[in-house]
Amino acid sequence: MKRRQSKNRLIINLVTAVVILLLLYLAFHFQADLKALILRFQLDKVADPDQIIAGIKLVLFGIIAYIFVRALGFLVFGMFRLRKGFDAPTLVRNVFSIVVFSLLFLLIFSFVFPKANLGALFTTSAIFGVILGLALQDTLGNFFAGISLQADRPFQVGDVITVGAQRHTGVVEEITWRAIKIRTFQNHVVLINNSSAAKEPIEVCPRDNLNARLVYFNTLYNDSPAKAIHVVREAVREADNVSSRITPIVRIRNLSESGIDYECKYWLDDYAKYNDTDALVRQRIWYAFRRAGLNFAYPTRTLLVERKHATEKRAGDGGALVERLSAVDIFAPLSVEETGMLAQAAVRHIFAPGETVIRAGEPGSSMFVVHSGRVRVQVNENGRPRIVATLNEGDFFGEMALFTGEPRTANVVALEETEVLEIGHAAMKRVFDTNPDLVESLSFIIGERRQGLATQADAVHGTEDESDGILSAIKRFFGLS
Ligand code: CMP
Repeated sequence: MKRRQSKNRLIINLVTAVVILLLLYLAFHFQADLKALILRFQLDKVADPDQIIAGIKLVLFGIIAYIFVRALGFLVFGMFRLRKGFDAPTLVRNVFSIVVFSLLFLLIFSFVFPKANLGALFTTSAIFGVILGLALQDTLGNFFAGISLQADRPFQVGDVITVGAQRHTGVVEEITWRAIKIRTFQNHVVLINNSSAAKEPIEVCPRDNLNARLVYFNTLYNDSPAKAIHVVREAVREADNVSSRITPIVRIRNLSESGIDYECKYWLDDYAKYNDTDALVRQRIWYAFRRAGLNFAYPTRTLLVERKHATEKRAGDGGALVERLSAVDIFAPLSVEETGMLAQAAVRHIFAPGETVIRAGEPGSSMFVVHSGRVRVQVNENGRPRIVATLNEGDFFGEMALFTGEPRTANVVALEETEVLEIGHAAMKRVFDTNPDLVESLSFIIGERRQGLATQADAVHGTEDESDGILSAIKRFFGLS
């Protein structure tokens, strides 16, 4: 289509040039006849016949010069495109045409009117120039602002920009001597004067840059942040046009009235399609929520009447908790009723990945069972953390301080979102009263864990004496005989 258009234009220009050259030939060849014709029609009363003929020649030469300048521009900028691989800016092309045409026109003028004094013409035109300058103030302002935009090159054709007080956003299509032409995402063309654009801040999203977008969503307070973040991140990174070079970031923006507000930041391969991609990302979030059982928050007013702190939930409801506790090896000897009592007394806590459940050196009067997730036991050795053990679902920790009354021996940190069941001193005492054998198996485990805690240098093999020591310490602490 474009090719056919330029072919047509070439033919029209060629035909015009031939016709004008023919007319010029006639004007020179039949100059005497033309003069006679002017006299016959008494046009000499209007102006000198020689001047009229010169004027006709000037116009014809002017048209030829115009066609020549266009052909020259076509050649020069065609070569530029071949060499650089992109079109020269419109403004540069226009300036080139104007300068070359003006020079040619001056040459033609002095040829056709050899007696005219160009110097005088310029002097008299100085006043005229001032008047013209004032009249063309805006146009010239645009022109020079356009030149500075070309020199600065803050953006290029194909970049997405937001400009002006009305925040027009679109893809830059052209920068002319008068305006920046952008195509908005509603497929409208907006022209912004170069001079006004030069005064306004312009937000540029370059075509060859990884530009990011933010999409917002929320969840109910019941939905775990770690889960929501993981689910959304995985759903978004799969979406079309979301760059695989940087993993999307999902983070909490606010704890608002009706739920937790999040933002999802993702990077686009093609920024010009951000509207479609934002929409796709929102769609993916909806489906991911559905699959993961997450809920969007809507304006709610919930009246909670609770005796205990809201984050601590009495775990009295769960058959799942009884099941979990009965699977813990040290509680294996307990009867179903005893495990049930323990489950009643247990308090559920949830921790985010990286949160510390227990800090070394602090006093402690409860132990924990990992209900879901994973924790890491680590100690500080010469200022550096040493991992002692990783505990999974069904494992327990915190028993050392609980049973011996000594401070916590290690840090326990959640590796992922982790739910733990906390069992206090009173509940354990009840269990010991009815199951004295439990004390013995516990003292053995504590002995083994102590060895794990010891540095390689001072590691010792557990001796029966040590186990006996722990056993009597537990008995003393719990007041058992
Ligand atoms: P406590 O000392 O109360 O607090 C830190 C807990 O880390 C400790 O109880 C144990 O439950 C746990 N712990 C310490 N050493 C080890 C180990 N070697 N293996 C597994 N768990 C341990």
